[in-house]
Amino acid sequence: MAQLLWLALGLLLASSVAEAATANYTFTVQSMRINQLCNNTDIIAVNGQLPGPTIDVFEGDEVVVDVINSSPYNLTIHWHGIMQLRTPWADGPSMVTQCPIQPNSSYIYRFNVTGQEGTLWWHAHSSFLRATVYGAFIIRPRKGNAYPFPMPDQEVPIVLGEWWSQNVVDVENDAVMSGQRPIQSDAYTVNGLTGQLYQCANETFTAVVQPNTTVLLRVINAALNAHLFFKVAGHNFTVVAVDACYTANYTTDTLVLAPGNSVDALIFTDATPGSYYMAVEPHDTLSPSTVATSDDDSTATAILLYNGTSATATPAMPTMPTNFDTTTANAFYFGLRGLPAAVPSPVDVSMTIELGLGQLPCDATQTSCTGKAFAAAMNGVSFRLPTQLSLLEAQFDGKPGVYTADFPDAVPPNGTAMVEGTKVRSLPYNSTVEIVLQNPVALPSENHPIHLHGFNFFVLAQGLGTFTPGNTSAYNLVDPVARNTIAVPTGGWVVIRFLANNPGMWFFHCHLDAHVPMGLGMVFAVENGTTPDSILPPPPDDLPMCRPGSKRRHVVPPPPPPPPEAKAQPPQSHETNGRPPSNKEGGDITRGGAVRSGQDKEQGRSITCLLLLGLILGTIVPLAS
Ligand code: C2O
Repeated sequence: MAQLLWLALGLLLASSVAEAATANYTFTVQSMRINQLCNNTDIIAVNGQLPGPTIDVFEGDEVVVDVINSSPYNLTIHWHGIMQLRTPWADGPSMVTQCPIQPNSSYIYRFNVTGQEGTLWWHAHSSFLRATVYGAFIIRPRKGNAYPFPMPDQEVPIVLGEWWSQNVVDVENDAVMSGQRPIQSDAYTVNGLTGQLYQCANETFTAVVQPNTTVLLRVINAALNAHLFFKVAGHNFTVVAVDACYTANYTTDTLVLAPGNSVDALIFTDATPGSYYMAVEPHDTLSPSTVATSDDDSTATAILLYNGTSATATPAMPTMPTNFDTTTANAFYFGLRGLPAAVPSPVDVSMTIELGLGQLPCDATQTSCTGKAFAAAMNGVSFRLPTQLSLLEAQFDGKPGVYTADFPDAVPPNGTAMVEGTKVRSLPYNSTVEIVLQNPVALPSENHPIHLHGFNFFVLAQGLGTFTPGNTSAYNLVDPVARNTIAVPTGGWVVIRFLANNPGMWFFHCHLDAHVPMGLGMVFAVENGTTPDSILPPPPDDLPMCRPGSKRRHVVPPPPPPPPEAKAQPPQSHETNGRPPSNKEGGDITRGGAVRSGQDKEQGRSITCLLLLGLILGTIVPLAS
């Protein structure tokens, strides 16, 4: 018995330094009126905030977000860059992994953040709603682990956005219905605010810093359609991570972020104490540039203010690159290195995917379209989302007729007509996949930020012109940068590689929102493996139903949380990334300690007595019997 007590005591101790907790958030999505650029605009926002609440968790935590849709629109939320290992039902892209949450319905997203650290973000993944439904998603090293760079003294999330002074769902509908590009935005924003260089700019985001300290800027490009340059007057950046993947230190005075990218960059506040603009301008990547003359080329600003200096002084302005400065952008993208990594090898599936822009005849649903509509394609297939059932449900249920598994592995011969389709590429479980992403070299061409759901990939090589098949000597297999979104250069190419270790349906698409309804995407259908933990889990009970009368129903209100004693169960296996579950950390034993609301920035990590009691009893009883 004494032994048992020691054991229980040991467990108690282990649980008091427990690493993993559950972070609970409630996102209420609803209309909100805000004044920006001298206009009152009704937007859809989360918890009355723009940007929405920051999710701030530790590596290994479980994240539970109850999304309540009180907006008039169908809605889903995507956790951009979260790998969702064995939680594909929580990924979020509308009609890929779920049907949308209908107005006055809710859905609880549950997933773990294991094996990932850094700055990511979340956003709506249905229509243009992500113009205002977005926020930062920060994953810190778990207790006892450190950053691979000196601990910063301060950190500042910098979420860059793109603003329309009108209803963005209407903006998208007008574009889709007419088959044209959406109208240009009215401004860019930093943490939701336009800054002082616009007429009627009402507010500016200001970060107050101490002299001679290290500040970590967590920069996110949440803009719908704009690549962005970001500079801080008088300061250099040391980039330490992109897309929540650590990099070798990279020093630059200019950051470039494609929509979907994030950059963790350190700045050292050793400039003359004063006031400095942080400035944001678009990088226009369309070539020839004459095609892009209608773009919004305005400048958003925020202020870096040294503590103790005058807040009313005119801030110093950085010299921005020209909007067409592809040389600066490519120098940044091509110059980054990752940390030494084990790149998966050998390659099992090898594909070349050409990104094409073109035209298709207007279809019957495009009521204000005359003649031809803008369209886009991967390997000549203009992707169409299903309308009746999500791809993941079709895969799980084995329901035919929702998609076809004939996405081509190679670029079709010149002159092949663009087709529309819901074509996926099946991937055997655990296969190593290499993809050459090729932009057209012939003009017009445009930089497309291609985002892969469910995985990070290694960027092995990139360049201008046409990739020479088999040119593996160009590959970096030592310290390639890892990412979830890669900007494929205008008139150029990129080679990426990833391990398909996560069964499910994973969207692979251009993160310029305007190009998604035009068809610039496809889906990987990763097949089940043979072990219990490599098989698609069943959908959660509250997965939104696809249409009235279908068998899966949404639940309103969401079910109450299980009673505390139900949480003190023996640990479940949460093996991830090929790493065995690490029970000595006690990580999976103690759950439910941390309860954080969207507005609550504190890390609540208390462990209830009830939970501990349950833990001790739950441990002793099986041991004693
Ligand atoms: Cu950040 Cu499919 O999206």
